Amino acid sequence: MAYDPHPHHPDITFEMWTRIDEIIRIYRPKAGSIISVLRECQDVVGYLPVELMDYIGQGLNVPRSDVYGVASFYALFSMEPKGRHTVRVCMGTACYVKGIKEVMRRIGREFNIEEGGTSEDRRFSLEAVRCLGACGLAPVMVVDHDTYGDVKSDGVIKILNNYE
Ligand code: FES
Repeated sequence: MAYDPHPHHPDITFEMWTRIDEIIRIYRPKAGSIISVLRECQDVVGYLPVELMDYIGQGLNVPRSDVYGVASFYALFSMEPKGRHTVRVCMGTACYVKGIKEVMRRIGREFNIEEGGTSEDRRFSLEAVRCLGACGLAPVMVVDHDTYGDVKSDGVIKILNNYE
């Protein structure tokens, strides 16, 4: 390849770099492929570290500002590592009225995560979301693909401890 050797990054293994090179090789001749390359590379690594975005820019021969621009524009891309489990806490009106705020606080305190953040051990990412369309179950929390209704601040930790 004509561009720099792989930069060192603790989250990107040799096998991942091999797959990344393959993705770049396939898309390189096609114009307007930044989104596709970012999406596929994010699938490989789990998120988009800066070093990876620089590498992609070189590989596609586009300015790094274009790569960053696309990555920061679309909500689908994450430049921060994600937790093994995603906890979505509903902040819609029905859930709010039934005390979801306290649930959110409890999770934040227990695992030391801020809203929108990821715990140090990368176990959980915590997101506040709008109405999940299950108001009858309020307050609602979704962990990965599992939905929990009637969540209370004193029971929520027990639920989350089922997720390693
Ligand atoms: S407000 Fe939470 S599910 Fe609708």
